[in-house]
Amino acid sequence: MRFYIKSYGCQMNIYDSQRIEDILMSLGHKKETEAENANLLIFNTCSIREKADDKLFSDLGRAKILKDKSAEDDFIIVVAGCVAQARPQDLLARYPYIDMILGPQDIQNISDKINDLVENKDLDALVLTNLNASDKFEKFNKSDPVSERSVSEYLTIQEGCDNFCTYCIVPHTRGREFSRSVREIISEAKSLVSSGVKEITLLGQNVNSYNGLDESGKNFRLSHLLWELSSIDGLKRLRYMTSNPKDVDEDIAKAHRDIDILMPFLHLPVQSGSDEILRKMNRKYSRERYFEVIDMLRSYRPDMAFSSDFIVGFPGETDADFEYTLDLVKKVKFSQAYSFKYSPRINTPASKMKNQISEDIKTERLRRLQDILNQQQSDFNKSFVGKNVEVLLTKSGRHSGQLVGKSEYYQAVTVDNANGLSIGDIVKVSVIDAVSHSLIGEQI
Ligand code: 5AD
Ligand code: SF4
Repeated sequence: MRFYIKSYGCQMNIYDSQRIEDILMSLGHKKETEAENANLLIFNTCSIREKADDKLFSDLGRAKILKDKSAEDDFIIVVAGCVAQARPQDLLARYPYIDMILGPQDIQNISDKINDLVENKDLDALVLTNLNASDKFEKFNKSDPVSERSVSEYLTIQEGCDNFCTYCIVPHTRGREFSRSVREIISEAKSLVSSGVKEITLLGQNVNSYNGLDESGKNFRLSHLLWELSSIDGLKRLRYMTSNPKDVDEDIAKAHRDIDILMPFLHLPVQSGSDEILRKMNRKYSRERYFEVIDMLRSYRPDMAFSSDFIVGFPGETDADFEYTLDLVKKVKFSQAYSFKYSPRINTPASKMKNQISEDIKTERLRRLQDILNQQQSDFNKSFVGKNVEVLLTKSGRHSGQLVGKSEYYQAVTVDNANGLSIGDIVKVSVIDAVSHSLIGEQI
């Protein structure tokens, strides 16, 4: 069939969508970049906040129009991912023209199920929502990496989550923590590098609690895995995300000091700076512990840059709690960050808590927080003007002669006069200007 796939949400979904592409393309299905040209539409969905759901619903409306218009025998609409897992029956009731619902741990079955639908036109919609991640990776390992690769790619090493933060839907949509084996990860990394990948970002909901097994049955921690990967010839950069502050240990800080291809940047979501709110969120760390982790990492790697996630307006958040968050931000100084209004999610404890915060207060707090975070990002970037950074070039820029990439610190950098340079090069660049969210540089 001719398939179109759209990914919503996090990097894990991007990774999963790429694996779906691998599976379908290895079987001879053809990828289309426009939904209008396809007869198999796949929506790999996200359910982290209500807005993510809303995006899907408008796309499904458009999909129905295409399906109604189509004169083909087979026109299949698949909803995969976290919304599929969280509310399958609800989706089918509202959008009866959906042909298949696949939770995040069932997407590997897509090809078999498409065959079922094509061969048996009377089948009701298929709903698969098992939560066993090992099945998925077994199937992924078998498909050839035929989809397009960039020079910087993701590699899922762990998925699912056992933390049960009270606001979060992920443990319900991706299931319990599961770590892939060391052998599997190394072999996938080598295959990426041999196809030209220079940078790998290891992915997991909670990578710092990675505990996969090596061939002798020994347990590997994240730091061991990073060491193992760092010896792959041709791999130039390593990153990992997401980390929970409660699980960051000294071995990781040492890895940032000692592994030269491990980048000095860490995404370390804090969510709130108030101990009371952190307790209600079930984050299992205090603001003090967060400061300690930052200090430890900076003591081993002084130039380490940090980004974070914040939620404002969690149930019961008072002005004083919010001030603690602003105070934490001012003390840590982030190089970039993401911040969100709390969004109640189905079946999560926080959605049932008293003292839900009004939309107006959430809006006002988000604005105040983002003002400071934007200022910090801009200050961080400005501090690089006149200095040098190393940039991995990943794509062409807006104007001719420009190439764009990321610095060691994950800043977007536009390189002017990049003649003679190619995507995939790592170049030393002198920073000549800093605009809102990126740097402008010239090759030295
Ligand atoms: N409401 C708002 N933001 C949320 N996040 C997770 N769940 C929610 C929710 N219910 C945010 C957290 C997390 C990021 C991926 O999304 O900040 O780190
Ligand atoms: Fe969205 Fe979370 Fe699912 Fe990723 S794991 S797609 S962020 S709900």
